Amino acid sequence: MRVAVIGAGRMGGTLARLLGAHGHEVVVTAARGREELAPVVAGWPGVVAGEREDVVGSDVVVLAFPWRVAEEALAGLDLQDHVVVDATNPFSADYDIVDTGPTGSTGVIAALLPGARVVKAFNTLPAEQFVESAAETAPTARRIGVAIAADDREARDEVADLVGDLGFTAVPVGGLDAGRDLMQPATPLFMVPLPAIELEARVHQLID
Ligand SMILES: NC(=O)c1ccc[n+]([C@@H]2O[C@H](COP(=O)([O-])OP(=O)(O)OC[C@H]3O[C@@H](n4cnc5c(N)ncnc54)[C@H](OP(=O)(O)O)[C@@H]3O)[C@@H](O)[C@H]2O)c1
Repeated sequence: MRVAVIGAGRMGGTLARLLGAHGHEVVVTAARGREELAPVVAGWPGVVAGEREDVVGSDVVVLAFPWRVAEEALAGLDLQDHVVVDATNPFSADYDIVDTGPTGSTGVIAALLPGARVVKAFNTLPAEQFVESAAETAPTARRIGVAIAADDREARDEVADLVGDLGFTAVPVGGLDAGRDLMQPATPLFMVPLPAIELEARVHQLID
């Protein structure tokens, strides 16, 4: 699969390395341009540095930049029909939680990307978790669960497959509204690393 990752820091860099290591064709972009980014990704198998326009046409686009720069980072990008994974969290530069209004932080992102198939995932666990648990050989129910929310079920399932490729198990929580209520900072599933079977039970307790 061709995956674009916007953001090459702790989260974007970690996901790009993992995706590349698991056989995906990965292009990474960041605030800096391709030339400056190329030395950073030079040792990451399967990963190349790109410019923002290189993101268009990817099977999946992962957003891993600070949420507060979304408008600037996504300006002019036409990601209609693309599966877009929002891994961002709404923090200010001082790490205060930002009030994201009725649609939640991913809803705000979705409004910036008309026609994109937006999935909320990878935002509820620290980047380090994806390094530590990636070589997991446990049965899927015992692997670390990655909460995932989307209104578009097919897009959600595509991203769930990607999560599985990396050695984790996707645990659906519902649509983007459920993602707002359960996955954003200071909500019940935020920074809760649990085996998938336990995370699933937690989700059922919360929504039933
Ligand atoms: N770190 C975690 O454990 C973690 C866990 C879950 C979710 N998240 C979320 O993931 C996102 C990234 O966090 P992080 O810790 O990886 O931050 P980070 O280490 O500071 O990296 C941020 C990345 O975003 C890029 N960036 C900044 N402005 C941009 C723009 N206008 N256009 C494109 N790229 C831009 C930066 O580019 P340069 O490299 O050129 O500066 C950098 O590569 C945040 O929304 C965060 O809440 C992080």
